[in-house]
Amino acid sequence: MVDKKQEKYGNAFNATFTGIMDLFRKHEPAGTLKLTDRFDGKTVLIDGASSGLGFAVAVEVARRGAKVIMACRSGIPGKGEEVKRRTGSGDIHMFPVDFSDISSIHRLVADIRGQFGKIDILICNAGLVPKKSRKTPQGIEEMFMVNYLSKFIFVNLLFKENCFRYTGSGHPRIIFVSSETHRNPREFDWDSFGVYKEYGINKSIELYGTYKLLLTTFAVELSRRLNKVELTCSVFALCPGPINSNIGREAPKIFLPLLKLIFVLFFKSPSKAAIPVIYLAASPDLENKPFDYLFLMSRKEPDEKALNPENGQKLWEMSEDLVKSISP
Ligand SMILES: NC(=O)c1ccc[n+]([C@@H]2O[C@H](COP(=O)([O-])OP(=O)(O)OC[C@H]3O[C@@H](n4cnc5c(N)ncnc54)[C@H](OP(=O)(O)O)[C@@H]3O)[C@@H](O)[C@H]2O)c1
Repeated sequence: MVDKKQEKYGNAFNATFTGIMDLFRKHEPAGTLKLTDRFDGKTVLIDGASSGLGFAVAVEVARRGAKVIMACRSGIPGKGEEVKRRTGSGDIHMFPVDFSDISSIHRLVADIRGQFGKIDILICNAGLVPKKSRKTPQGIEEMFMVNYLSKFIFVNLLFKENCFRYTGSGHPRIIFVSSETHRNPREFDWDSFGVYKEYGINKSIELYGTYKLLLTTFAVELSRRLNKVELTCSVFALCPGPINSNIGREAPKIFLPLLKLIFVLFFKSPSKAAIPVIYLAASPDLENKPFDYLFLMSRKEPDEKALNPENGQKLWEMSEDLVKSISP
């Protein structure tokens, strides 16, 4: 029997329709982003900051006084210059990274450590929906790597290299941009974890949800591990809702004009979609929280599969083993 929940984002049409309907539903806000919620004296790293949500977040974080690190695959230095122009901030720094390549992630962490030492807030945002499977330089599947495994590698390396600041006001915060599609998979397919398989656009949309489930489970498990005894680092995840971004760039050419029209008419602008991200990163309301999950501005429980500690433990161990096998 097909579960209704699992059908919601199972193909391109359902995913788009569900996204639009979600925007029209009433949501009780978890809080309010205030003008006084600022980042003065803080260093905020945003990845995937060349486009869509990541770029809008970089602009808003800069406006609110942060030293901004934009970790990007493209748009260097143009996108950083644009953030400077729009905000009047001179404290914008760009670093190249390709999250499909483990060596590039190692270089990024070395660059950050060498030039900044410490960061206060990390926003893991980069993601894609490819039109078909592609192999990374290490021979694994690109969307699995970019949308999930690279975050596991990146965050763990930042901790290993002592890149988070524990002095000053507040704890470090890590924010993962996930998606409500993480509720779609019926269960974890552990046998397929990290195994390269060929697929096309429809399967890509289904797998997007699978990898967002891995990401959300990782976020829950990371918080569990970091905050076992006392709060050391807040870990937040969210679904920003449907955004008029470049996420559909690989959709079949024939559908692109229609998709663009739907995005413009119904989806949120990246700057509006950025509000819950900025709230999670800046608001004092969340100061003592080890974990939180927002859908738009509403607090929600992540899917029960993501909350299950056995799944978190298993995912962590399997990710560690896989990373060992592909590490340079
Ligand atoms: N759009 C939506 O409706 C929606 C809904 C829920 C969640 N999200 C999530 O929101 C996040 C941002 O997506 P978006 O909608 O803003 O899409 P977007 O406009 O396509 O931006 C995606 C960003 O990720 C970067 N990226 C992709 N592959 C990369 C790689 N291998 N290495 C480094 N960076 C890479 C892109 O860099 P380039 O510019 O160089 O390609 C770009 O900066 C994603 O995690 C997405 O899953 C989006």
